[in-house]
Amino acid sequence: MKKTGFITFEGPDGSGKTTISRKVVEALKNEGYDVVYTREPGGIEIAEEIRNVILDPKNTKMDIRTEALLYAASRRQHLVEKILPALEAQKLVICDRFVDSSLAYQGVGRGIGIDEVFQINQFAIDDHMPELTLYLDVNAQTGLSRITSRKFKDRLDQEDISFHLEVVKGYEQVVERFKDRIVKIDANRSIAAIVQEALKTIHERVLD
Ligand code: TMP
Repeated sequence: MKKTGFITFEGPDGSGKTTISRKVVEALKNEGYDVVYTREPGGIEIAEEIRNVILDPKNTKMDIRTEALLYAASRRQHLVEKILPALEAQKLVICDRFVDSSLAYQGVGRGIGIDEVFQINQFAIDDHMPELTLYLDVNAQTGLSRITSRKFKDRLDQEDISFHLEVVKGYEQVVERFKDRIVKIDANRSIAAIVQEALKTIHERVLD
């Protein structure tokens, strides 16, 4: 039985990704796995500081390439400081967002281009890609209404509806491009059903 692996969760804002990934981690820990649960942008002090700069609603002047580079910079630090050492120690790493978020949000949402964003991220990740990515596929309307009802909206939540719809289109392209790695999960169901499918997929594709 395999105990280690690098698994990511992806999805547009409001897809329920954080709720689902937390529950999946809880279940895996109960099964006895040594899990490191982390998130991007963030996960460690330097990257959390970069996160605050990126998402601060007052940073309205931020250029889109600056934004893409900051996400890549925070990813680099997070990878070398937390993800790689955990994998080296044979732990199971579950990360809420990774490079696919940059491809969908900056590549397509911001219109920089998937290839361009992937290229700058290669410098950051040096070919370290997740073994499995679970994409939470939520109805666009559900996702948007969840963002609208958030009390605190960060700089990206505050973007208009068209941006969020472009991000969804971006994810569709990313899922198609990396179909061997990314598994789409229908996220328009009960939390329990989504968690169960996520766990089943993780076992089938990574652990068993
Ligand atoms: P979160 O709300 O899932 O914590 O993510 C913060 C925001 O950052 C969310 O709107 C998605 C966005 N994001 C990007 O635009 N590019 C990235 O590479 C990552 C990791 C997140």
